[in-house]
Amino acid sequence: MIPLNDPERPAEFDRQMMFRCLELARRALGKTAPNPLVGCVIVRDNMIVGEGFHPGAGQPHAEVFALRDAGERAVGATVYVNLEPCNHYGRTPPCTEALIQAKVAKVVVGMIDPNPLVAGQGIERLKQAGIEVIVGVEQDACQLLNEGFVHRILHHQPLGILKYAMTLDGKIATTTGHSAWITSPTARQQVHQLRVACDAVIVGGNTVRRDNPHLTTHQAGEPNPLRVVMSRKLDLPLEANLWDITAANTLVLTTKDADPDCQEQLQKKGVEVVALSPLTPATVMNHLYDRQFLNVLWECGGTLAAQAIAEGVIQKIWAFIAPKIIGGETAPSPVGDLGFTQMNEALTLKRVTLHSIGSDYLIEGYLSSPSD
Ligand SMILES: NC(=O)c1ccc[n+]([C@@H]2O[C@H](COP(=O)([O-])OP(=O)(O)OC[C@H]3O[C@@H](n4cnc5c(N)ncnc54)[C@H](OP(=O)(O)O)[C@@H]3O)[C@@H](O)[C@H]2O)c1
Ligand SMILES: [Zn+2]
Repeated sequence: MIPLNDPERPAEFDRQMMFRCLELARRALGKTAPNPLVGCVIVRDNMIVGEGFHPGAGQPHAEVFALRDAGERAVGATVYVNLEPCNHYGRTPPCTEALIQAKVAKVVVGMIDPNPLVAGQGIERLKQAGIEVIVGVEQDACQLLNEGFVHRILHHQPLGILKYAMTLDGKIATTTGHSAWITSPTARQQVHQLRVACDAVIVGGNTVRRDNPHLTTHQAGEPNPLRVVMSRKLDLPLEANLWDITAANTLVLTTKDADPDCQEQLQKKGVEVVALSPLTPATVMNHLYDRQFLNVLWECGGTLAAQAIAEGVIQKIWAFIAPKIIGGETAPSPVGDLGFTQMNEALTLKRVTLHSIGSDYLIEGYLSSPSD
């Protein structure tokens, strides 16, 4: 049992417990798709008596682990959980019933589950059973942790994140296509960490030919996203870091009749090859939705990035900016042609934040969608 500091300030106490739920939930980062990240803390007499998190699809939910941990001490206790407890039979029985059976007194919920199968019904069920329920503690932090899950449920597509690294003069490579490295090792480490939270990372054929990237998290014990290459021509090198599937799995998405020899060679190396018709950012995201993914990172060059934006599959931007100038009239920039001619057509980011990372900066923001 862990004693806690400040039972005299209940709101502050609730916030601390919700942050603890988020911390526990993050232990399964990158491993839960299509399920959300959920952590749960059980408190009695101002002591934490049980903790748990959801490790992944098909496994028990966070509340069940926390209740097991608390045992009899759950009676009359307060349960903190970052997402509304489920009230339906999925792969596991409803958590609402487990909480009622355990005779808890109060449940503090971070955010309502957007899943129409839950959406407020979990809270209603708990209230009906005489349990006190509080909703919305640290709601923004809870929404942020599960933004991919929420987007998937509401829009039937994974959340698309476009990440790029550019110089201060807006170039993502030199005029010869050389781009290693624009940012410092600290910023690149940050990218490795961002990849942990993503289920897939996408590049186009040109990036494979020019950069020969690894696209892994470079971290022992952390999950790697599925590495996805979009290539129409399949004019790809037969030796490349992405074809070493001992590091992480790779999927090449192409068109039906593209170079059968190359397809066969890649398959022999253990690379999965799938033909999509047509091959576009939107059909790729539909395919990755069907594979149950929540967060998809686009680490492509400007041509593909522009198409992905134009087709509405990018919701979030991670732009790394290095205080360097490379120049070059034909050096590529992060986003190719969007067909805009007037400045008032520019896409404006919302909820923009700026982070200083080593000698570089990260600007993070969200693209507005027509439904916003
Ligand atoms: N600094 C950075 O953050 C960063 C990140 C990535 C890339 N880069 C640089 O960007 C340059 C490559 O830029 P790029 O724009 O050519 O990037 P890309 O990521 O290779 O995307 C373009 C490629 O995507 C494939 N593709 C498949 N379907 C497509 C579709 N529907 N629409 C468009 N493309 C489709 C094509 O491959 P096939 O030709 O094989 O058919 C096409 O050549 C390189 O110099 C690289 O160093 C920089
Ligand atoms: Zn549940």
